[in-house]
Amino acid sequence: MDYPERFSNLPPYAFPRLRALLDDHAPGGEVVHMTIGEPKHTFPEWVTRVIVENAAGFNNYPPNEGTPELRGAIADWMGRRYGVPVDPETQVMTLNGTREGLYNAAMALCPETKNGQKPVVLIPNPFYQVYMIAAISVGAEPVFLPATAATGHLPDFSALSEEVLNRTAIAYVCSPANPQGAVASREYWADLIALAEKYDFRIFADECYSEIYRDTPPPGALTVARDMGADPERVTLFNSLSKRSNLPGLRAGFVAGGPGSVARMKTLRAYSGAPIPGPLQAAAAAVWADEAHVVENRALYQAKYLVADEVFAGVQGYMPPEAGFFLWLPVDDGEDAAKKLWQDTGLRVLPGAYLAREVDGFNPGKGFIRVAMVAPEDQLREALWRLRDCLYG
Ligand SMILES: Cc1ncc(COP(=O)(O)O)c(C=O)c1O
Repeated sequence: MDYPERFSNLPPYAFPRLRALLDDHAPGGEVVHMTIGEPKHTFPEWVTRVIVENAAGFNNYPPNEGTPELRGAIADWMGRRYGVPVDPETQVMTLNGTREGLYNAAMALCPETKNGQKPVVLIPNPFYQVYMIAAISVGAEPVFLPATAATGHLPDFSALSEEVLNRTAIAYVCSPANPQGAVASREYWADLIALAEKYDFRIFADECYSEIYRDTPPPGALTVARDMGADPERVTLFNSLSKRSNLPGLRAGFVAGGPGSVARMKTLRAYSGAPIPGPLQAAAAAVWADEAHVVENRALYQAKYLVADEVFAGVQGYMPPEAGFFLWLPVDDGEDAAKKLWQDTGLRVLPGAYLAREVDGFNPGKGFIRVAMVAPEDQLREALWRLRDCLYG
């Protein structure tokens, strides 16, 4: 039996790789998991009640594109948060989390050719792994753009050649960025949108960390596109309740963008999508409508930023995250550091190289570890001191 060639050279996913690196070794202290971006704060207690009250909905096939109530709640939130009016009928579709949508958007929207050639999908490096698999799945060429200290931890699109830009169909951008915690400014978005207008490519804005920030809400790509009068189909925005509301298990996300793009995504989803169960859609609508729990959740992360700043004060190369909940810490070699931390202290962190791709002999994640600040504050403080003592003396 043959297998598709295009998936035959995939590196193992980050977490099995981590297990292979660490699991033959005993932890050297109390285990603290700081590898996965799974929020650990509580979600609002009334979410359970809403699900139970709507349990009769398990009797029905749920609407694939989202109930009118859920799409309405999302559109209202978009208006409040980003100041962009979006029509819930034509510009919003629900997703099983952003990951599903980031994949299927490429399926629905990436053309077979661009200017008569194989299309390019631009991907920041390091990156959230679904961008790469989406590009490969649609037969596009993934082009990885280093997002390092030298480029402000976001990709430098201005460095691209005319040849690549002419073939570019889609650019994935993550802001706030996982893993670096960098935020795309209005100017950054504006420059990218202008470039996309010039070379006619789409921007997929992964904004799933948008509500976890220090003091200023990160600007949204759709807002900037609207203010510039860009093509309404230029930017497609993805967000979810996973990080905002500590509900990664609800699998409740959405995509918002131009009516043409959303219509294409809806068509694809009608054939192949798995809708969010009705009672969960009801809960998601209530959660998008509530902001009080988001403010509380953000305050918990804001306290953690201060803990990290205190612990890593004076550490060469420490980058205080602007947003999100990861620390992207410089080390000599991420795998060595992760192994040492595990064996000496019991802390489990991810080598940065597992989140990045080697290009021309350079893996921009190699000299980093990613540390998820998801543990409660006291446990986090203790763990970060252990980390500092172990790796930075
Ligand atoms: C950058 C980034 N994008 C997307 C996702 C997917 O999140 P979800 O599908 O839960 O919305 C994650 C999850 O960790 C992420 O880190």
